[in-house]
Formats: sequence, C-alpha cells, structure tokens
Amino acid sequence: MSLTSAQVALIESTWKVVKKDLQGAGNIMFLKLFQIDVSVRDKFPFRDVPYEELEDSESFLKHSLQVMETIDLAITLLLGGEMEKLVEALVDLGMAHAMQGLKPEDFDHVGEALVHALGVALGKEFNDEAKKAWTLLYSVVTAKMKEGLKEAQED
Ligand code: HEM
Repeated sequence: MSLTSAQVALIESTWKVVKKDLQGAGNIMFLKLFQIDVSVRDKFPFRDVPYEELEDSESFLKHSLQVMETIDLAITLLLGGEMEKLVEALVDLGMAHAMQGLKPEDFDHVGEALVHALGVALGKEFNDEAKKAWTLLYSVVTAKMKEGLKEAQED
C-alpha cells in the first residue's frame, strides 16, 4: 500500500465526517456516476428506473450503501494493519462483479463520482491533499477488485 501515514490520517479524519450519512453520500455518488457514464446504469438491476426516481429504488439505495460500506471496511482494515484480509475481501468482491459486460475500467468512473460526493460532504475540507489521498485509496481498492474481476471473467 503506497499511502503515506499523513494520507491515511487525512482519510481517517475526513471519513468521520462523511460517515455521518453514508447513504446520502452513496446516493450522490451514484447519481453523479450515471451523469458521467450513462451506459453503466444498464449493468444494474435498477436499469429501467427513471433517473429522477432512482432514490426511490431499493436496489439503488442498497448498492449505493454497499459501496460506502466497502470503503468503510477498507479503512477499518487499513488502520488495523490487516492488509491480507483487505486484499482478500476486495479480490472476492471483484469476482462477485463478474457480471456480463462489466469492464475493469467501469470502476474508474465510480472513483470520479466518489471524489464528487466527498467534495459535497466535506466542502472546503476536501482540499487538494485530501483529494489526492482519496484518489489513491480508491485506486488501491479497485486495483484489487479489478484483479478479481479479470480472474473470474477469464474462467
Ligand atoms: C460500475 C461499477 C459497478 C457495477 C455495475 C456494480 C454492480 C453490482 C451489482 C449488479 C451487484 C448485485 C446487486 C444485487 O444483486 O442487487 C453488486 C453488488 C455489490 N457491489 Fe457493486 N457494482 C459496481 C461497483 C462497485 C464498487 C466500486 C464497489 C465497492 C467499492 C461495489 C460493491 C458492491 C458490494 C459490496 C456488493 C454486494 C456483494 C455481495 O452481496 O456479495 N460495487 N454490484
């Protein structure tokens, strides 16, 4: 893991704020994602729900929260030094995403949407350093998910 201890501390302190409303931040993230990348919505069970009604869809709400809970788990394991457990969980999660048509790079747009949602939750606190730390964390998390996804899709 290439995060510095200062970056880990920054992630921990900003996450405390975002964690107050994980569902809200997750919803902002996925609503943004579907603006950045319209086609990725087809890969979800709520593909036919109109954009304006997504926040009324249980399956939309569930996945938005699941992503934020994954990030929460990643931070907990990272802080606890449980890297092996973290890598295993993320590779398994990537494997669980081996649905038809999902490409590893689809995860990258989610990262852009996450940065947007963090900016909304944190305001000025989300400065360039915090943005850099979070971008790095997300790329580390998805690197492992991508490994699992590729492995499962090759089988
Ligand atoms: C564009 C990218 C993604 C797509 C298309 C996608 C799609 C899906 C779908 C269709 C499911 C199953 C939902 C259901 O059965 O109701 C799922 C489950 C899940 N997703 Fe994603 N997902 C994406 C990105 C992510 C990311 C980036 C994370 C975490 C950082 C994540 C975390 C989860 C979790 C924790 C589950 C539940 C897994 C389980 O029950 O074992 N997803 N995802």
